[in-house]
Amino acid sequence: MSVSTPTTSVPFQDLGRLHDSILGELRAAFENAVSDSSFVGAGTCRTFEENLAAAHGVEHAIGVGSGTDALTLALRALGVGPGDEVIVPSMTFVATAEAVVHVGADPVVVDVDPETLLIDPDAVAAARTPRTAAVIPVHLFGAVVPLELVDGWRASGLAVIEDAAQAHLATWRGRGVGTAGDLACFSFYPGKNLGALGDGGAVVTNDAHLADRVGKLRDHGRESKYLHDEIGWCSRLDGLQAALLDVKLRHLPDWTARRRLLADRYRERLGRHLVPWEEGAVHHLMVMRCPAEQRDAWQAHLGERGVGVGVHYPVPLSCQPSLAPWAGPPCPVSEAAAAEVLSLPMDPLMKLTDVEWVCDEVAQLW
Ligand SMILES: Cc1ncc(COP(=O)(O)O)c(C=O)c1O
Repeated sequence: MSVSTPTTSVPFQDLGRLHDSILGELRAAFENAVSDSSFVGAGTCRTFEENLAAAHGVEHAIGVGSGTDALTLALRALGVGPGDEVIVPSMTFVATAEAVVHVGADPVVVDVDPETLLIDPDAVAAARTPRTAAVIPVHLFGAVVPLELVDGWRASGLAVIEDAAQAHLATWRGRGVGTAGDLACFSFYPGKNLGALGDGGAVVTNDAHLADRVGKLRDHGRESKYLHDEIGWCSRLDGLQAALLDVKLRHLPDWTARRRLLADRYRERLGRHLVPWEEGAVHHLMVMRCPAEQRDAWQAHLGERGVGVGVHYPVPLSCQPSLAPWAGPPCPVSEAAAAEVLSLPMDPLMKLTDVEWVCDEVAQLW
């Protein structure tokens, strides 16, 4: 008779366990990459790019060095630069705005929806000026910004880059992320739903011209081997990471289904305290909102009880010191949310009993 051991801790995420579960496949991919010596570009990278594009129902995927580089190269491919403004949400990781600064344009930070914490379309409309060149909606925590909004922005003459760093394989009413914007950007930072064993990123698009531009800009603006007709970057996804990512991409549908199952259970237990999502979300993070005056104490208490927690994000872009030169009006919704959010454990190999245990611990706080 097997006796199950009681849960005494649940990590925020367990990458070691995830990689152990597919270690044989990762080892084989590593050995192939070493024997091929295709470390930059070439076969493995192209195979992964094709598989990533197919998984998202888009024509082109271009592997690059990071999610930040993906955003930067996407902006550059669109021709966004000095004199342009790019609208970004306040509730996101700083890279969304950093990329805008990297191309010499001005980030315009706008507030988010009070429920979903996704970019507020009314705030986008209010922030538009004749200099607005693009908007970067962020599919935050794995929940998708309604793609009809993306359609509307594009129809009104704005370029749209979907920041899908947290949303691999996510869908909105049957349409995949990456299919609505001019381009979309993924991060393969190790903790992402599809994470490399190091840094990595990708741009996807249905536009062959933009795909070509990103492909060239990531590789020194190379026209042919030693002919460079514009200044580019060295930001290629390396072959070893591509080979490992390709292995993990095969498991991503199962891992995503698992995240959804865990999320359903979290919702049954903690429902109204969670940042809501719609069907098609991929639950990169499971975010609860706490009373602001309790958040830090709850974070410390849960940590002591063995519940791995994090805060995404404690400082919204409207309050980031590095973005002070581009400061606009305050973003009260983001600023309030940043004091309330607390991310609970979410990992595809968590068990439903782990969710129950986490929820029991959390329930005692309310
Ligand atoms: C929403 C968002 N955008 C962009 C990035 C940047 O990705 P990377 O860390 O791969 O540069 C991240 C990653 O943390 C992110 O979460």
